[in-house]
Amino acid sequence: MGTSNQFYKTNDYRAMAYPYQITSLEQYKKDYQRSVDEPEEFWGAIAENFLWRKKWDKVLDWNFSEPKIEWFKGGKLNITENCIDRHLETMGDKPAIIWEPNNPEERTRVVTYSRLHKRVCQFAQVLINNGVKKGDRVCIYMGMIPELAYAVLGCARIGAIHSVIFGGFSAQSIADRLYDAQAEFIVTCDGAYRGAKDIPLKSIIDDALIGNRTIKKVIVYTRTRTPISMLKGRDVWWEDEMEHAESQVEKDNIVSFPATEMDAEDPLFILYTSGSTGKPKGVVHTIGGYMVWTNYTFINTFQYTPGDIHFCTADIGWITGHSYILYGPLSAGATSVMFEGIPTYPDAGRFWDIIDKYKVNILYTAPTAIRSLMSYGMDPLKYKDLSSLKTLGTVGEPINEEAWHWYDEHIGQKKCPIIDTWWQTETGGTLISNLAGVTPAKPSWATLPMPGVQPLLVDEHGEEVTEPDEHGMLKGNLCIKAPWPGILRTTYGDHERCRTNYFATYKDLYFTGDGALKDKDGNYRITGRVDDVLNVSGHRIGTAEVENAINMHAGVVESAVVGYQHDIKGQGIYAFVIHSNVHGDEELTRKDIFQTVSRVIGAIAKPDKIQFVSGLPKTRSGKIMRRILRKIAEGETKNVGDITTLLDPGVVEEIIKGKL
Ligand code: PRX
Repeated sequence: MGTSNQFYKTNDYRAMAYPYQITSLEQYKKDYQRSVDEPEEFWGAIAENFLWRKKWDKVLDWNFSEPKIEWFKGGKLNITENCIDRHLETMGDKPAIIWEPNNPEERTRVVTYSRLHKRVCQFAQVLINNGVKKGDRVCIYMGMIPELAYAVLGCARIGAIHSVIFGGFSAQSIADRLYDAQAEFIVTCDGAYRGAKDIPLKSIIDDALIGNRTIKKVIVYTRTRTPISMLKGRDVWWEDEMEHAESQVEKDNIVSFPATEMDAEDPLFILYTSGSTGKPKGVVHTIGGYMVWTNYTFINTFQYTPGDIHFCTADIGWITGHSYILYGPLSAGATSVMFEGIPTYPDAGRFWDIIDKYKVNILYTAPTAIRSLMSYGMDPLKYKDLSSLKTLGTVGEPINEEAWHWYDEHIGQKKCPIIDTWWQTETGGTLISNLAGVTPAKPSWATLPMPGVQPLLVDEHGEEVTEPDEHGMLKGNLCIKAPWPGILRTTYGDHERCRTNYFATYKDLYFTGDGALKDKDGNYRITGRVDDVLNVSGHRIGTAEVENAINMHAGVVESAVVGYQHDIKGQGIYAFVIHSNVHGDEELTRKDIFQTVSRVIGAIAKPDKIQFVSGLPKTRSGKIMRRILRKIAEGETKNVGDITTLLDPGVVEEIIKGKL
């Protein structure tokens, strides 16, 4: 328990081992079985390796019907003591975060665990000074800079609930999220650098705050020196606040800021994600289970060895950044590379430069990034030393075999295991993945479930699929039978929505929204969403959300959005739009609609194609037949499915003719 654990006592971090690291296929099988047979004993033993102020009363209490899920309830802790304080004695000088700026000419910043401790304590004090209390919601809208990590962890230190919003979302999206979370505080920057662009974050926040009555304070960090407006009484400068806090938390070179004692089941953060209907949902993760899950999956899937340099290329605005840039690696005492920019700036060799520069051992990225970099050919790889790499990972979307092999041959040089980690915002961390070099990889298959994860394939009636298809595979909708520590607990402010979205489709099962195949060896291959959610460049976008945005444009009568296969992004967004006056200037109308979608959601949701149509294929009851539109968007001209039930079958032919 607590400070007496093996982890804390180690003097040399390189010699430090994780007692729950799985090191062989046999052990995986044994641990998996045990996690299913005796989940409380299994996870209780793993949780012993963390720093608790008080031990939990019960490891697990759950039912999926409400749902009620409690892990380590009654346990008292602070996650930042686990991510920072407990490493200080033995690895205070070890880099926690290595920050690579957008502009390679700019200076790298190395944040040691001691420095991270100081900055997080200081920022926690800033939050207190500005009136933030335990349980308050703090929205964070920043670029990928170390201050973002200080802000996130500063919230966690005082028990405030952070809600990070990705820099690509619009003012309207932010306003919706602020309202839903009833947030009272914002941490932002004047601007953010992303490739050749400079995103005016503060000015977007100002737009989001027009008419807002809940936000009390906006803390602004200077990154781009873009001129911004600062509202008296509401907006304060990060630098001034930090300077003031410094004298409060540091005396005689000793930094002290007590971490707030939290219950394992207190919320840690809200992260908004798209669903098949309406507005994004605020997925809520709680402290204890999320900590154990991100740490356990980080160590086991990547086979992290103390001393390894881990580079996850995701943005902290998404769950991958939360779990595998911050909480997972830091709780394991790892060194995490944080990159401000994009893979193609200033050129398509940027990732390879970073790997070479910091001798990165683990690279974790999205198939979209791999496909995009592949398209530049071999030139960007010339003279880049990638020999430090030991493990490669992918996440966010299915990886096609071609990209898998390219990754294997040209990046891993055929000596690095590739892990294909399948998971979701709601799952907190990886659920299905091979363990690097420990369990077998299979190109484009996520393979085996992590200990604690019990997948099940069901048909549309919720019956378990047991009959293999002609290829010997089971095929169905992917559900999970029992909770793992990192599962979401609720959707913020609306528990019923959580129930209906995830736990009501099939009785007593968590429904993922994904379809999957299972081979005879028990490996899973995720085939993609089976609901109306698109996965564009590894980002989730609801078709209903995009339609709502398009429909807001003047002149649009109705629209239907579907996904289609896109060589780089995995899926592209195809919109069929009925517009009252396209005869004016089609191209201009299209641009106007792009602009509307960018305003309402953000540039990430901009359709790739807009086809103007005079009608949509609808049933007599008025339901749009998306499966027909999906076929058309994929280029099918003949077999678009049964159209006899349509109100006006003629419309299909017209749409096929006008296909872009
Ligand atoms: O469809 C699955 C796909 O991404 C969805 C989850 O998206 P999000 O919550 O944004 O989280 C992304 C990062 C964890 C899933 O429902 N997905 C994620 N990982 C994979 C994947 N599809 C196939 N293979 C994966 N490895």
